[in-house]
Amino acid sequence: MCGIIGYVGDRTALPILIEGLKRLEYRGYDSAGLAVQENGKLAITKSAGRISVLEQKLNPDLAGTTGIAHTRWATHGAPTDANAHPHTDATGHIALVHNGIIENYLAIRTYLKQQGITFHSETDTEVLAQLIGHFYDGNLEQAVRQALHDLSGTYGIAVVSADEPGVVVAARRGSPLIVGIGRGEHVVASDASAILAHTSQVIYLRDGEMVTLTRDRARVTTLEAIPVAPEVQEVEWSLEQIELDGYEHYMLKEIFEQPTALENCLRGRMDPRNGIVHLGGLVDCSRELTRTKHIILTACGTAWHSALVGEYLFEELARVPTETEYASEFRYRNPVVDEGTTVIAISQSGETLDTLAALSEAKQRGALVLGVVNVVGSAVARETDAGVYLHVGPEIGVASTKAFTGQVAVLALIACYLGRRKHMSAAAASEFLAALARIPKQMEQILDRADQARAVAQQYAQRENWLYLGRGYNYPVALEGALKLKEISYIHAEGLPAAEMKHGPIALINKGMPVVFIATSGSQYDKIMNNIEEVRSRGGSVIAVATEGDRDIARCAEHVLYVPDTLEPLQPLLTSIPLQLIAYHAAVLRNCNVDKPRNLAKSVTVE
Ligand code: F6R
Repeated sequence: MCGIIGYVGDRTALPILIEGLKRLEYRGYDSAGLAVQENGKLAITKSAGRISVLEQKLNPDLAGTTGIAHTRWATHGAPTDANAHPHTDATGHIALVHNGIIENYLAIRTYLKQQGITFHSETDTEVLAQLIGHFYDGNLEQAVRQALHDLSGTYGIAVVSADEPGVVVAARRGSPLIVGIGRGEHVVASDASAILAHTSQVIYLRDGEMVTLTRDRARVTTLEAIPVAPEVQEVEWSLEQIELDGYEHYMLKEIFEQPTALENCLRGRMDPRNGIVHLGGLVDCSRELTRTKHIILTACGTAWHSALVGEYLFEELARVPTETEYASEFRYRNPVVDEGTTVIAISQSGETLDTLAALSEAKQRGALVLGVVNVVGSAVARETDAGVYLHVGPEIGVASTKAFTGQVAVLALIACYLGRRKHMSAAAASEFLAALARIPKQMEQILDRADQARAVAQQYAQRENWLYLGRGYNYPVALEGALKLKEISYIHAEGLPAAEMKHGPIALINKGMPVVFIATSGSQYDKIMNNIEEVRSRGGSVIAVATEGDRDIARCAEHVLYVPDTLEPLQPLLTSIPLQLIAYHAAVLRNCNVDKPRNLAKSVTVE
């Protein structure tokens, strides 16, 4: 949720920390702060608001070469200067930045207060800083270890002490931390984007591990002080990929990246001519997967919408009973996970707490657990038995776009892979994969007409209530279209299966209310045309996403956004794009911060 960066080396830490914070700002952004070791002391600056506000407060002459920094998204305590990180111990010699939530902070706070410690913030994080100070007797690593033993909850932390120059201690449980290994320097961060400017060689810290960083060494141990031989990996994303590249917003860039992203996602994974899908990540569990009797797809938000498309795909192509569950529900109820159940966790970040908890529940119950993940080496990727990466590149805009189409494409591949091992003929798979191979070009055609979506946004951006309706494979697209609109433009929008409208929501329709229909050709076309008439006769303004060449629909819709023809199961890969564009332009027209919508952060690592 929040962002962490720490540096130790020969260079002046301040500009490195600031640049890192700016790259992390998309994760959390209501306050920020940093601590730099300077002449046997810690120079600490914190501020509510954006990094630019923090910059104005900083002493630009800070020359220390070791420091930590943080960008916060409030969970405990309001976004104020006092609650911003770093937090310090009672002596002010130890400073800590933290992502996650400390569950037993009240008990520890009470204990420390009894020891005479005064608190200066409302945060759970300060409790940990004070606890480390309480244990400190000249060895920071040891004090951190001791404090973490008393802690329940989640954390990714970085800690410095004024008394140990050139040392940063970091640890994780449930919140990602990556160590970048440079020449004569180390950078630790919650996200690779803050490291890439310095090095692409990284160690992904695992849950329950800590690392002590000096200029020359990254010593990884478990919380029990057992040394760990870390695996040094190469980050596969480049710096250019995480920069704006001339676009006004990351969201727009990522919408326009979808043709290339999808090509990368599909590359080398299918042979349309012979109807074969190659998924290297599934080879080891192929037999078990083929015998599966029941599939549960679990995810949150946009990823849950792609899971819904996956449910339809799996049942249609592979004929395996499949259900889609919100990860937050799955983890707390008593789901039926029998022998032969496969649980597939879908997540762009691979760090969503609810999704991680759901997969750990599924594992405990003996399911085969697979991941469909974008961020390589993320927690979901590590905790699953096997899986398939999206390979759509980094997604930085808070609103998910290319990850959605990447997830749908990967689920389509898995469905076809499984289908071929069950009932699907080679000819049917061939036709399906050939259609999938055409999608990137078809996406380009839609993006060439992006102005049409802007015109729709222009006409309706000031309306406060929208409906999105679709059937079959386009029902999840309706949900996704509505989510995109509400999360970035703060317009109230609801997505529904079109037939559900008459069971209640039809009462909402009044003159001029924008109602978006995903009305592409296919088995339910006539039905959805009836739904369009129902809306029209009540004065609603119909915006239709339709298949190229459909002239009939132009007679009953006020706006038509055409998409190329494809097989019905693949339509979400195309129909979602005009809806992403409408949401984007509506948000811009309403002067909303598209990439950093209020109250939201890119990955939700708290409950
Ligand atoms: C919406 C959005 C969120 C995420 C959800 C899951 O645009 O981005 O709804 O889809 O928080 O995140 P991941 O996929 O990282 O698990």
